[in-house]
Amino acid sequence: MPIISPSMLASNFSNLQSEVEMVNRSLADWFHLDIMDGMFVPNISFGIPVIKAIKSHAKKPLDVHLMIMDPDRYIKVFKNAGADILTVHYEACPHLHRTIQAIKAEGMLAGVSLNPHTPVNLLNDIIEDLDLVLIMSVNPGFGAQKFIKNTYQKVKDLKDLIRLKNSAALIEIDGGVNLETGKKLLESGADALVAGSFVFRSENPETTIEALKNL
Ligand code: DX5
Ligand code: ZN
Repeated sequence: MPIISPSMLASNFSNLQSEVEMVNRSLADWFHLDIMDGMFVPNISFGIPVIKAIKSHAKKPLDVHLMIMDPDRYIKVFKNAGADILTVHYEACPHLHRTIQAIKAEGMLAGVSLNPHTPVNLLNDIIEDLDLVLIMSVNPGFGAQKFIKNTYQKVKDLKDLIRLKNSAALIEIDGGVNLETGKKLLESGADALVAGSFVFRSENPETTIEALKNL
């Protein structure tokens, strides 16, 4: 069964506690939290106080996706806010190996995210150190965008690399995930699916999460 990580960016922020409780009750595995700085991506989402508020009600791990420049500055801060998995962008980290070690030293799982144009073979020399690779299937910055179909091939290539290197990294996909794209992603080798608008804009988000879980 796939790991399902609902993206809280698409939730109703004026009812955040009840949205968190819905995810607690559902078959979802993680909370996906999108942190945007208005520099790495052209949007600003939410920050530390909101993560802490979610953490205070969440009964499942926080899967924190940092779309920020120079994330090394904030690794401890996100740990203290409650992050369990911390994912940084390949494109934002000139010293990625050091960044990954710093995340692990704080006791979090370490992930790297790739923008749609970034090839998976750039991870050749770091894949053995990673707990997770987050492949962006849209350009990061906004929810509810159109899925980029080239992602299926990227997932297959990444799966091959993970096998070749005997890495334990999980493959997570973010952007435009629904039942149709989700099914093909799992067939291609994905382990975890992020879903924002597909879950929170559906009539019954809990049932939608169940449908994704049963793919
Ligand atoms: C995009 C974010 C995604 C986003 C996904 O920058 O990283 O997590 O919330 O939203 P949907 O599932 O609506 O494409
Ligand atoms: Zn995300």
